[in-house]
Amino acid sequence: MRKEATVIPAIEKLPRVSLGFYPTPITNAAHLSSRLEGPTFFIKREDLSGLALGGNKCRKLEFILAEAQRQGATAVISTASSQSNFCLQLAAAGRKLGMKPAFALIKGVHIETQGNLLLHNILGSDVEILEVADMSLLKGDFIQKKWDDMAAHLKAKGLRPFIMRHNIPDISAILGVVGWVNAADELDRQFTSLGISPDYVVLANGGGGTQAGLELGSRYLRTKWKVVGFSVLNSRAAAVQAVAEQANAVSDYLHLGVTVSADELEVYDDYIGKGYGIPTEAGIEAIRTLAQTEAIFIDPVYTSKAMSGVIDLVKRGRFKRTDTVVFVHTGGVAATFAYNKEVAR
Ligand SMILES: Cc1ncc(COP(=O)(O)O)c(C=O)c1O
Repeated sequence: MRKEATVIPAIEKLPRVSLGFYPTPITNAAHLSSRLEGPTFFIKREDLSGLALGGNKCRKLEFILAEAQRQGATAVISTASSQSNFCLQLAAAGRKLGMKPAFALIKGVHIETQGNLLLHNILGSDVEILEVADMSLLKGDFIQKKWDDMAAHLKAKGLRPFIMRHNIPDISAILGVVGWVNAADELDRQFTSLGISPDYVVLANGGGGTQAGLELGSRYLRTKWKVVGFSVLNSRAAAVQAVAEQANAVSDYLHLGVTVSADELEVYDDYIGKGYGIPTEAGIEAIRTLAQTEAIFIDPVYTSKAMSGVIDLVKRGRFKRTDTVVFVHTGGVAATFAYNKEVAR
């Protein structure tokens, strides 16, 4: 039975800045359903969240940047891969709130001034592309030293930098997940008002914070729907561990009294292909399928791999004709332009 209160009270009390347009729409994807001869599909258009070119990070940033403001920040620093959608959204949010954006980016597949790097150029972000391509360097001493240097540089200009770190127990990581606990509530209320009763909410999993928020929120609200993740970065074992760790840390932070165990999570790592940021044939096919059935563009790094997984699981019978599946379009479309050579036929 779903709890009485539909708004999660512990979240309502947290400081939040308004950056996006919520709730993001949910659209019926009937042509996709008939193309796949599969379940009833809906698409949660988180790509239409409104900040810059949209995506799942905007909800996270509404809580994270409220904390940065509370700390008096006038600049934001972060790190990810060169075409990171998170860093682009952070740059845009920072600009909206009067904060200078600065990034040290791991050398990803595309470092030309295209896609998100073009948008950074327009936003006037400070961007340093690091001569390393290893995503594991996003944790630990190497990146901490880099951040310290960047912070010192910004302080010398009279700015007060806020460093946005990705890992629990950092407050930014906690608050990012909070944004997606709230999204579970938003989704569930939308399902009620649309008169639908989905079985699954499916999405791409990168660092796992988005899935963690939905896992925690859906358990707290005791929803009928279950979450299914498609990893684009980590092995299944590492991905479920990361989701459980984040969900449990946020459950403690919000005093929700929910425990998420790694072995109850459904995450697939079969659709990553050669690695993070390297598009797959099936993913590119999925980009075309979504565009040609629903006129919706999905991205080459995250959502296309997740959708290729969904399509495969329909073929394998994991998702049945009688199921209702909601695909969360987490955004990232700007990267398509950097990946034009891979995506174009
Ligand atoms: C478009 C898109 N989808 C999904 C994700 C995955 O989000 P998370 O890191 O919370 O798993 C990201 C993260 O960078 C993203 O940019």
